[in-house]
Parts: sequence; structure tokens; C-alpha cells
Amino acid sequence: MKNEEKVRSIIKEALNLVVPDEEEVLRGKRAEYILKKRLEKKIEGMDISYEFVGSYARNTWLKGNLEIDVFLLFPENYSMQELEKIGLNIGKSVVDSYELRYAAHPYVHGVVEGVEVDIVPCYNVKDPKNIKSAVDRTPFHHRWLKNRIKGKENEVRLLKGFLKAGEIYGAEYKVKGFSGYLCELLIVFFGSFIETLKRCRNLRRDCVIDIKSGEIKRGKSFFVVDPVDENRNVAANLSLDNLARFVQRCRTFLKKPDLNYFKKLEPKVDVERVKKELENRFVVCFITSKPDIVEDNLYTQLERGGKKLFEHLDRLGFKPLREMHFCMDKCYILIETEVSTLSCVEKRMGPPFEDEKNVEKFIKKCRSRGEEPFIENGRFWVYSKRNIKDLKTAIEDFAVKNWKSFGKNLGMCVLNGFEVLVSLDILKELNNTIYIARFLGLIPDKGSNF
Ligand code: UTP
Ligand code: MN
Ligand code: MN
Ligand code: MN
Repeated sequence: MKNEEKVRSIIKEALNLVVPDEEEVLRGKRAEYILKKRLEKKIEGMDISYEFVGSYARNTWLKGNLEIDVFLLFPENYSMQELEKIGLNIGKSVVDSYELRYAAHPYVHGVVEGVEVDIVPCYNVKDPKNIKSAVDRTPFHHRWLKNRIKGKENEVRLLKGFLKAGEIYGAEYKVKGFSGYLCELLIVFFGSFIETLKRCRNLRRDCVIDIKSGEIKRGKSFFVVDPVDENRNVAANLSLDNLARFVQRCRTFLKKPDLNYFKKLEPKVDVERVKKELENRFVVCFITSKPDIVEDNLYTQLERGGKKLFEHLDRLGFKPLREMHFCMDKCYILIETEVSTLSCVEKRMGPPFEDEKNVEKFIKKCRSRGEEPFIENGRFWVYSKRNIKDLKTAIEDFAVKNWKSFGKNLGMCVLNGFEVLVSLDILKELNNTIYIARFLGLIPDKGSNF
């Protein structure tokens, strides 16, 4: 079979994995019907309206991920507090059970007849350029896409499935991947799933995809211009690395098409190998408890903390190689370094010889500590005693002194307690060997096919 044919036949097979079955569609229809009835009754006589948006309204949701998004549209004369209060009240009263979630405002995430629903209040603004918060743009997104995506629904699903299997679907901070809206825009722009892959194998980090004009230009960074607001980058939450993973995934799929590109595969981990590498390399795991805050916020703080810790180890001379962070029941930061023990001395720089005043001060200070300075390349230096020599102590010292670097909420957790594990102890705590094996570069990276 020719490659092009093979690609087409795999895509045909993949449809079974991404298109919802009849049962799922019916479940959606039933919930939609009941939800609409309840909404109409609830808002009768009010100046508030509702609109079904998102992937359910456009028939582009991924098989097994049925979820209905309803936006409540408030006239602009409502205050933010009124919108929140009334929005939550309406949301709560039309679902069978719920929890509160937080975006720009709190909203209701609930269940209707066994189907998940999001009920999000927003302002009904005239022009998407005058929005009061990001959610106000969503109804415009829906209206822009509604007819343009008709007939291409399954193309969207193929793209979502292809990305989801590669762990790069979702714009949340934890993933930093492609949002559903971005997937739909790419399908409108390129015309089909296969065309999207063919054209995206050549994407660059400086591409600017202008959906409305149909052009790809060069810019400062990867930017997908929102057709309803030219200042908004629809790919703002997509990380450079996940863009790269997508491009590479397009290339390898087109070269060697395989149905596995649409399946979430658990990579095989050789646990003995992981143990051996952990024993021979310098890996530390920083652990603290998990603050009770929204996930996007948590990952922002954890990322920042991990970065600060990495930079600190770099300054000290441990030669850190890579950092990775994630949350399960606790928060984890993994760091691998090239060096685990530093010399007991550090070579510290003093002033150039011409600077008589500071030279004098430097010499005095060194001698007060029992250290003898020396001249090299026209300036003074000294071997200074190091307090902290080993990696684990360096991390503990940093966390005790700089708990604030971990952000508002995570910082408090660090202040209350943390643990630093090294070598094989990491495996005792973390039985998720996939994370560790990937971190050590023993199995294929996220997004690449096994
Ligand atoms: P979704 O995350 O449900 O995306 O948000 P989607 O397009 O329906 O895709 P899938 O298939 O469920 O993954 C629906 C719309 O609501 C907006 C998003 O921008 C999107 O256009 N939204 C959602 C918010 O603005 N804030 C939220 O907290 C959630
Ligand atoms: Mn949705
Ligand atoms: Mn969703
Ligand atoms: Mn949603």
C-alpha cells in the first residue's frame, strides 16, 4: 500500500476511536433537552439568556468526553457581584449535583442526567473587543465557528484524539497544550485533519497563523490570531515544547502511520533499569503537601518553585540538568544534577589590583576568616570555606530560607514541612515509574509514539 493510502486507511479506523457512539449521543440529547427545559423555566421573565457553546453545541466533542457547556448571558448593567451570585444560583438550580469551579468568575460544574455540564455566567457584550473578562469572548467563538465547522466535525475529533493520545490536548496550565477552540480553528484554516498534519510538519516557532485572512506570516513567536479579536493569541497557553512535540508527531505519523497515534499507550518501563540509573546518577525529589487551590494556580506556583530551586543549584555549582514537577496527593519536584558533592572550598573573586581601597578591605575580610587571598590575572581571589557541600543539604537549606519562592499557597506548605529524597528512596515514595523513567530519558518523551 502506498503511504498516502495507508494514512487514509488509518484515519478511517481512527474514527471509531474518536467519534462518539449512538449511546453517547443519545445521552447528550437527553441531558440537553432536560437542561434546556429547566433553564427556560428558571430564567423566565428575567433579562438573562443562555447559549449552548463549546464542543457539545458544535458536535465536536471527543468520544468518551461528553460534556455540555452552557453560558448565561447577562446584560452589561449587572455588577460583577450580581452576575456571580445570580449566575451560580441559576447554575445550581438546573443541575442534579454540582461543585464550584473557578475561571474568571466562579461557575457551576455539575451533572444532568449523568452528563457533565459547565454553566458559566458571562456578559453579553456587543463587541468582543470590549469584553470584561475572558469568558465573555466564548459566545463569539461559538458564533464564528458554528457554520464554518459544519461538515468537518469529525476532522476536529481526529485532531483532538491525535493530540490527546500525545498528552498535548488541553490549554490548562498543567498541560500547556492545544485548546478545543484552537483545534477547531486549525481545522477551519487547513480544511481537514490530514491537511493540518501535512502543513503543520513545517511549522516554526515564529509562525503567525492568521485564521481570518487565511495567511501564515512570520512574527516574534508562535501566534494564532483569534478571528474574533486580533489581539488575542489563541495559542497563548501552548508551550514551545508542546508545539515542537506536535510538529514532530505530525512528521512521524505521516512517515509511518499507525492507529496507536490515537490511543493512550502506557509505555513499558524496565524497573530494574530505572533502579540502576537512579543509583548511578544524582536525582533528588523535593516533596511537600498539596495546597487546596485551583489546579492552574497550583501548577503556576509549582513551576515557579521548581525553577527557583533549579537556578539556585546552578548558582551553587551543582550543574543541574533537568527539572520536572507534578502533583498527585502531594507536590513533587524532581531535579537531576551532574554533581552531588562540591569541594569544601569555593574560589571567590575579589577586586582588580588597581582598586587600592577595595583591595585593602578584601584582604582584611579574608584574613579575619583565616583565609589568605592571592592574585591571578590582575585581580585578587580567595579560597573560601563552603558551608554546604552536598546536594540534599543545599536543597533543604534553600527551602527553609526561601519558602516564599514557592508562591503564596505552596510556600505555606513548604514552610510547614517538606522532604528531600535521593536515589532509590525516590522509588519507595513515588511508584509512578513512568514519570521517573521519562525524566531520566529512558522511555520516549511525551508526545512521541511508542
Ligand atoms: P471547554 O474547555 O469545555 O472546551 O470550554 P471545548 O471547546 O468545549 O472542548 P472540549 O471538547 O470540551 O475539550 C468551552 C468554552 O468555554 C470557554 C472556553 O474558552 C471554550 O471556548 N471556557 C471554559 C472559559 O472561558 N472558561 C472556563 O473556565 C471554561
Ligand atoms: Mn466543552
Ligand atoms: Mn473540557
Ligand atoms: Mn467545559
